[in-house]
Amino acid sequence: MVPRSSLLLLTGAASLLAACGTSAPPPDDGPGGASGAPNSAPELDTATMEQLRSLRYDEGPPPPDPSNRVADDPAARELGQRLFFDPSLSGPLLEGDHDGGGGTLGFKGESGKVSCSSCHVPTAHFVDVRSPHQQISLGTLWTKRRTPTLLEVAFAPLYNWDGRRDSIWGQALGVIESEREFNSSRLFVAQRVLASYGAEYEALFGQPPDLSNPDEYPQLTSDDTGCSELMSIDGVFYDCRGRPGDQGPYDGLGENAQRTVTEVAVNATKAIAAYVRQLRCGPGRFDAWLDGDESALSPSELRGAGLFVGKGQCIDCHSGPNLTDGEFHNVGLRPAVVAVAFTDTGDRGAAEGLAEIQDDPLNTAGEFSDGDRGALPDSVGDELEGAFRTPPLRCIAEQPSFLHTGQFTSLESVVSFLSRGGDPAGGYPGDSELERLDLTDDEKADLVAFLGALMGPGPEPALLTGLESAAD
Ligand code: HEC
Ligand code: HEC
Repeated sequence: MVPRSSLLLLTGAASLLAACGTSAPPPDDGPGGASGAPNSAPELDTATMEQLRSLRYDEGPPPPDPSNRVADDPAARELGQRLFFDPSLSGPLLEGDHDGGGGTLGFKGESGKVSCSSCHVPTAHFVDVRSPHQQISLGTLWTKRRTPTLLEVAFAPLYNWDGRRDSIWGQALGVIESEREFNSSRLFVAQRVLASYGAEYEALFGQPPDLSNPDEYPQLTSDDTGCSELMSIDGVFYDCRGRPGDQGPYDGLGENAQRTVTEVAVNATKAIAAYVRQLRCGPGRFDAWLDGDESALSPSELRGAGLFVGKGQCIDCHSGPNLTDGEFHNVGLRPAVVAVAFTDTGDRGAAEGLAEIQDDPLNTAGEFSDGDRGALPDSVGDELEGAFRTPPLRCIAEQPSFLHTGQFTSLESVVSFLSRGGDPAGGYPGDSELERLDLTDDEKADLVAFLGALMGPGPEPALLTGLESAAD
């Protein structure tokens, strides 16, 4: 049995931020400057300049991933790109909101409809601009949290808002087996990948096992993998097939056969990770300015840069080339209703995610990893209650929604939230680390302007589409 929340769609429009690419010249402050501030560039002292330089975009390759022997293999990148765009790996749509309408992925009960690119939309900096309302995502069910960008993820020590995964491949396998995202299974995906991409698989990982013999391995299709909704006299229940622990066909395999299946599925996700590692935002106008192009930033953006490392104290958490410390912080967010009539109260964040990854057989200390990434903390303390990962701020200005809940739909509202020191205590788990900043309206506008100067060119166009699919 799998818990199922039945969520109703509310009507309401999502707001999209105006686009502002890197090639565009810095916006004029316009008459009166940013809400009437003097239209002059601020004087930035040596200490401020030094802090700003620590935010310079890192154009070098991401750190190596010892957990994935094909992390930087060109053939793995190519196979991974095919898999990233391939919906045939997913199981049945469970959510009734799939009514064939705009932003949905088909009709409830249909299978083979969800791919990684359904939520990480390549032409939108790998965030979700597809789901109705553009806050949380409509996978096979609604996700509980907002889909983060995949740009620069190869630099992150731990993954997800709560640190629940310590590798990109572990995350991808988690997605495949989550009834909210792919509602699929390792047994089905292993069989499907070998059937559709056998030659590519063999070139990378050697002679594959034969998973097509029904006497040894029950054969699954996208219709009968994952969980299906069934009726009994006791009401609706879920029958789940192909994943560990569901008392289905995977659990019925012997230990060796289970290991063989998991290995094939893990190899496929390691190829996906090789593709994802290439996704970069690239330097923005802020970096051009750091490199000496004084005309690259407007006076408002420059004031914003000064505030980011000064009065705003943003750099305390948003540090380094991707403007994240990779750590988990409680910013005192009281969850509000998003897109669907859904409020994710009581989300303990990293306190739960980091505890779970410690014992996960698919973590990078486990037998399916090629080496330990060493990113897991030794212990999970109380300060992680209600703490979420500091998101990178590269290429986020065009995102339709923000924070792990997706409850803010503009950068202005995020900055106002931070300026007032978050929500009053009591509306969220744990204790907020934020202090009240009481920024003026001009200062808020300057910070928002600065965040826009962190837009980069994004990945090269060849990475934004599925390669010609080997799948039928
Ligand atoms: C239904 C929407 C959906 C689909 C489909 C989906 N994702 Fe995600 N992805 C999310 C959400 C939501 C999160 C954040 C989860 C959390 O923090 O609990 C996420 C997080 C991630 C992360 C971690 C990013 C970070 O900054 O920590 C990676 C990597 C990722 N997904 C890769 C993938 C891959 C690869 C696929 C395909 C196998 C995929 N996703 C399919 C919604 C989706
Ligand atoms: C105490 C650490 C901390 C400080 C200080 C801080 N942030 Fe953050 N910031 C975070 C965390 C953690 C999140 C994600 C919180 C969540 O989703 O629950 C976040 C989210 C954001 C987001 C949303 C990004 C997205 O993709 O959803 C923006 C924008 C942002 N911060 C900008 C700023 C600015 C500007 C400042 C300074 C005024 C600042 N932050 C100060 C930790 C911090």
